[in-house]
Amino acid sequence: MQAPNRLKVLVARKIFDSTLNKLREHFDVEVNSEDVPWSRAELSTRAQGCWGVLTTGSERIDEAFLASVPKLQAVCNMAVGYNNIDVAAARAVGVVCTNTPDVLTQTTADFGFALLMATARRMTEAERYLRSGLWSQWSYDMMMGADVHGSRLGILGMGRIGQAIAKRAAFGFDMRVLYHNRSRLDANTEQSCAAEYVTKAELLAQADHLMIVVPYSASSHHAIGAEELRSMKRSATLINIARGGVVDDAALAQALAAGDIAAAGLDVFEGEPKVHPDLLALDNVVLTPHIASASLKTRLAMADLAADNLIALHTSGQALTPVPEGLQGLEPRA
Ligand code: 8YV
Repeated sequence: MQAPNRLKVLVARKIFDSTLNKLREHFDVEVNSEDVPWSRAELSTRAQGCWGVLTTGSERIDEAFLASVPKLQAVCNMAVGYNNIDVAAARAVGVVCTNTPDVLTQTTADFGFALLMATARRMTEAERYLRSGLWSQWSYDMMMGADVHGSRLGILGMGRIGQAIAKRAAFGFDMRVLYHNRSRLDANTEQSCAAEYVTKAELLAQADHLMIVVPYSASSHHAIGAEELRSMKRSATLINIARGGVVDDAALAQALAAGDIAAAGLDVFEGEPKVHPDLLALDNVVLTPHIASASLKTRLAMADLAADNLIALHTSGQALTPVPEGLQGLEPRA
């Protein structure tokens, strides 16, 4: 028999059984076991009477949703990004929001680097060529790409993931690392990742490879658009592992088609899971379905941290990883 007065928690997408079992020790748990994202109306209906909700990037937690669930006290996002949550609106009604920093940093940095390598060295294009039976002989200029080692990496956004990528680049691939960030890092941190601070204009003009790792917010919306793309080297590659919306995908497709830049590697898209059709038609772009954090170990750590935040809030009143003050709120409506 269930103990009386247990708080109710909604898990908005399917997650690991072990994480659910951990939650069940503390709460009555309802889970979206079909794993089809709920509509806004359905999410609100399911969350009635809930004390907490474990969300992923697919759930939009805005003012209207918050107003519809007056018992809600906690929104624990299984993601480091929280542009799906109107944090200011949540704070205004006393709802605590948490995210999952740190646990995904290295896995996501690995993936960013993999995407950079795949893009610069045309790996998926080459595989498509081979699989389609077109490979009949070796030739000196077949699938020539750009070197990664020894080149200049530009990083836009220098948080944990940006720094982890910088270390791979500087110490593993002998790259010169330039970065641009809202605020400059302290000298020790810059030194620890051998990164030089430059203006955004310098970053765009000088990078052989540009890595986008900046969080999405109203101020980073279309930080890379037609003008920025035109200011990059024609031989440059662009990698986006941050969020769709930081890059103007339509402008990017045009720049790639026109040869304004050489290639792009994208794990995130505006309006995903839809992908701009012009990007799908291009060969010089590597496309992956938002999987940068998707190793088993890391996804488990993310789910557990989201659950542990709910449990800690309930048992001690303190969240483990509350979203930082003063960062972004909700993304503009797609
Ligand atoms: C998640 C991410 O997989 O953590 C983030 O911000 O983008 C990814 O690691 C995704 O947001 C699902 O919640």
